Amino acid sequence: MFNPIKNLIESRVSTGRYDPARSLSDQQLTELVRLATRAPSAFNAQNWKFVAVRSAEAKARLKAVSFGQQQVEDAAVTFIVCGTLGAHRSMPRALQPSVAAGIVPQSVADAWVAMATEAHQGNPQLQRDEAFRSASLAAMTLMLAAEGMGLSSGAMSGFDTDAVVKAFELDASEVPVMLVTIGYGLANNWPQKPRRPLQDVMVLA
Ligand SMILES: Cc1cc2nc3c(=O)[nH]c(=O)nc-3n(C[C@H](O)[C@H](O)[C@H](O)COP(=O)(O)O)c2cc1C
Repeated sequence: MFNPIKNLIESRVSTGRYDPARSLSDQQLTELVRLATRAPSAFNAQNWKFVAVRSAEAKARLKAVSFGQQQVEDAAVTFIVCGTLGAHRSMPRALQPSVAAGIVPQSVADAWVAMATEAHQGNPQLQRDEAFRSASLAAMTLMLAAEGMGLSSGAMSGFDTDAVVKAFELDASEVPVMLVTIGYGLANNWPQKPRRPLQDVMVLA
């Protein structure tokens, strides 16, 4: 039986070569981010932000702080996927719709905020860990969303973090975790590469 999720996982490639002539509409960009935000996050804090870099000027700015990687210029868009620090502070607002929808009782939302505040306050390492967890899951979801829309994608960590913060005027609480290029891949991209043997990476406990 055809399994679309399995097929997508096995066929996705990390795209580096894009057709520079093809762009994406605002509607496509919005749909990509809408789907990416369906990623899970601790306490549903949704501690992330997506900067869609798609104008020629913004692409040039990003390429300059990404070691000149050409795919930033050629892809239709490169998302700067940020994780946000201090998730406990924005949680009451993030959780309100779950309470309003009758999914999460107000008492549970309040308890989550109290737990997160207790854990996060004065613990910058945990705040950073949570920012990376949320943004990484969002980045993978963004790539799967792109594949599902017939687009190609690629993750990138080859960028100068401080320079990206400066170039895109990110807030001190916004950590650029990953770049995700999305667009129309050319036929000369590498196929998906072989992975390490399962016995090297898997432990049954
Ligand atoms: C966190 C992360 C950072 C990466 N950074 C870059 C990058 O800066 N430039 C690049 O060309 N590819 C980058 N890649 C792509 C990897 O090289 C690619 O995912 C890996 O070789 C596996 O490719 P495959 O999934 O097509 O088999 C990155 C991938 C990940 C997950």
